[in-house]
Amino acid sequence: VVSVTLLKYHIAIDPGSLDRVGDLVRAHAKAHRYAIITDDNVGALYAGRVRAALGAERSSIYSMAAGEAAKTRETWARLTDAMLADQLGRDTTVVALGGGVVGDVAGFVAATFMRGVPVVQVPTSLLAMIDASIGGKTGVDTDPRTNLVGAFHQPALVIADPDVLRTLPVAHRRAGLAEAIKHGVIADAAYLDRVTDIAPAVAAEAAPSVDLTPLVAGSVRIKAAVVATDEKEHGMRKILNFGHTLGHAIEAESGYGMLHGDAIAVGMVLEARLGERLGITAAGTADRIADIARAAGLPVDVPPEIDPAAVLARTRTDKKARAGVVEYALPTRVGMMTGGGKGGTWSVAVSDGDVRAVLAR
Ligand SMILES: NC(=O)c1ccc[n+]([C@@H]2O[C@H](COP(=O)([O-])OP(=O)(O)OC[C@H]3O[C@@H](n4cnc5c(N)ncnc54)[C@H](O)[C@@H]3O)[C@@H](O)[C@H]2O)c1
Ligand SMILES: [Zn+2]
Repeated sequence: VVSVTLLKYHIAIDPGSLDRVGDLVRAHAKAHRYAIITDDNVGALYAGRVRAALGAERSSIYSMAAGEAAKTRETWARLTDAMLADQLGRDTTVVALGGGVVGDVAGFVAATFMRGVPVVQVPTSLLAMIDASIGGKTGVDTDPRTNLVGAFHQPALVIADPDVLRTLPVAHRRAGLAEAIKHGVIADAAYLDRVTDIAPAVAAEAAPSVDLTPLVAGSVRIKAAVVATDEKEHGMRKILNFGHTLGHAIEAESGYGMLHGDAIAVGMVLEARLGERLGITAAGTADRIADIARAAGLPVDVPPEIDPAAVLARTRTDKKARAGVVEYALPTRVGMMTGGGKGGTWSVAVSDGDVRAVLAR
């Protein structure tokens, strides 16, 4: 059992914990009724076990369609209406069982239901375990993958059972690894070495035979430590955006055909090259990231059908673009980010010309 207690809430990472959700929830977030919100894929596999663990008489299952397209205000309304129709009240705790889509929507339902009830995050994808379930961001999309409507709503408890990753489709295992690579680059060189070692086993077609607990725990510790110092994203939390300024632009230019993690892998390689070009990042960092990404089955180049000029234009409409200058979170070397220190900005302004040069390679 790994318990991470860097934040106000407890994060339990433990193989088999899905069957102990009841004990954990009673210890950390006891409620009269439990609303298990899940999607059709994850629900079919795991919702029955979670309901049994919580006690069938006090828990109900609410399912949404799987996938990003269902992360909408309409889904939020339908789930909320179903809970109201079941006469759930303030003494309800929402249990978010699924990937990042379920976590974000169920978290937003919890943030708004009766002006806010507790949410327990039970992430089932690698991305949700190491990224989306920690930090309290919840919401829905208006346009694809924009997350423009939502709320900060910290979970009462997070329960990650690495065993459930055996059923996660391989493309999503690889995409999740991109965020683990990011965690190593931004905060911990030794952790990046461990990610490098485990990546081929996690990225293999066959379900992973290795225990993923150390991977999940290592990433959770890094994300939790960053979030703990900057809960509302004013400063240091910006380092989590490494690879995401160009990554988001590439993802959008792909018409969201690329998985987020795939686009972020390309974004990390390009942004490290940008840092090297600017003399900020140690030489060889971009090549190192590219090697690990390849071992993780992730792309490292902008797909040929994507126009670099369009990617550049997209960075300028990014949420992170301030006053016409695009800010990048860049490493100085593996394990260390630039821009910290007293009153640190944790990001640097970069000119279009430098970005263009890196995209042109
Ligand atoms: N709140 C945050 O801080 C934050 C951070 C990063 C990403 N996100 C959000 O997370 C979302 C992406 O999350 P995701 O990659 O988990 O996508 P997802 O929730 O769509 O899950 C991916 C697919 O895997 C399936 N799945 C999940 N777990 C499974 C399992 N154990 N076995 C079999 N199938 C399983 C799902 O049904 C889905 O089809 C995006 O909407 C993104 O905006 C949020
Ligand atoms: Zn990301």
